[in-house]
Amino acid sequence: MDKFPYLRLRRKRLKENLRKIFKETKISKDDLVYPLFVIPGKNKKEEINSMPGQYRYSIDLLCEEVQKIKEEGIKAIILFGIPEKKDEYGSESFDEEGIIQRAVREIRKYEKDIIIITDLCMCEYTSHGHCGIIKNGDVDNDLTLEYLGKIAVSQAKAGADVVAPSGMMDGQVKAIRKALDENGFKNTLILSYSVKYASSFYGPFREAAESAPKFGNRKTYQMDYSNAREAILEAELDFEEGADILMVKPALSYLDIIYRIKERFNLPVAAYNVSGEYSMVKAASLKGWIDEKEIVLEILTSIKRAGADLIITYHARDAVKWIE
Ligand code: PBG
Repeated sequence: MDKFPYLRLRRKRLKENLRKIFKETKISKDDLVYPLFVIPGKNKKEEINSMPGQYRYSIDLLCEEVQKIKEEGIKAIILFGIPEKKDEYGSESFDEEGIIQRAVREIRKYEKDIIIITDLCMCEYTSHGHCGIIKNGDVDNDLTLEYLGKIAVSQAKAGADVVAPSGMMDGQVKAIRKALDENGFKNTLILSYSVKYASSFYGPFREAAESAPKFGNRKTYQMDYSNAREAILEAELDFEEGADILMVKPALSYLDIIYRIKERFNLPVAAYNVSGEYSMVKAASLKGWIDEKEIVLEILTSIKRAGADLIITYHARDAVKWIE
């Protein structure tokens, strides 16, 4: 039998409260993670040119900012450090007195509850800007794993709740889990950037974090954006190696990937709404071409609808004001 005219889908859309009742996906403040950039020095707050409305903070001001962020209702932050000095081995990334280690310790003095996630990568710390140790002109996978273990332990020791390896080295979750467990950090979570594509959407971030590669690109370790089945393999490896959360990055051009990973694995899924995605929205809204609030809510809802349990986004502080 024909469903029409008995079934009328518009019936449920005719009043605002009806539309609210039938909403299938709602984003909540609890879903959002806010990224922060830390720089050396004192009393510094620099606006990031390529990311209007985002700043790099020295540790003292960062601590004040984290307090405000918490009051705004955000439960988790992810930290990126810009070190004093860079070298071939990214030494400051695992130094107990490194920028991130000091920042985490300092935040922890004032703030016990907020979830601190630390980006676990070497590209901000290496003089060549790659995400590992270079041998014969490319990143050496297995040698890099030893360093990643050291970085993880130093971050956990400083007080990070979650470490987030973003270098796309094979075996990184296993190496990090082993290093953490052997050093007494069995309860530190691993949020793995399991499926990270080599993407031009990272452009503004690389300016913010001074982490652009000085030669070549990241295509020998980050994934080709043409591939979806390979994404399942990447996630499967991380699942087996003991990741606690699987992440897809970037988010918007990869909603199909988020969906597939969510269908396939019974772990929480995170999505990183990256710098380029943010800056495009900001630029258009500064020009008056789009309604920023409506666009941001639509974007975040779509990422959640695709399957993300957690969304890392530079829009987080605005979004918590806009979410009902
Ligand atoms: C470090 C890292 C990058 C981002 C997060 N961690 C940059 C890259 O891989 O080049 C990008 C985040 C963003 O664009 O917002 N490996």
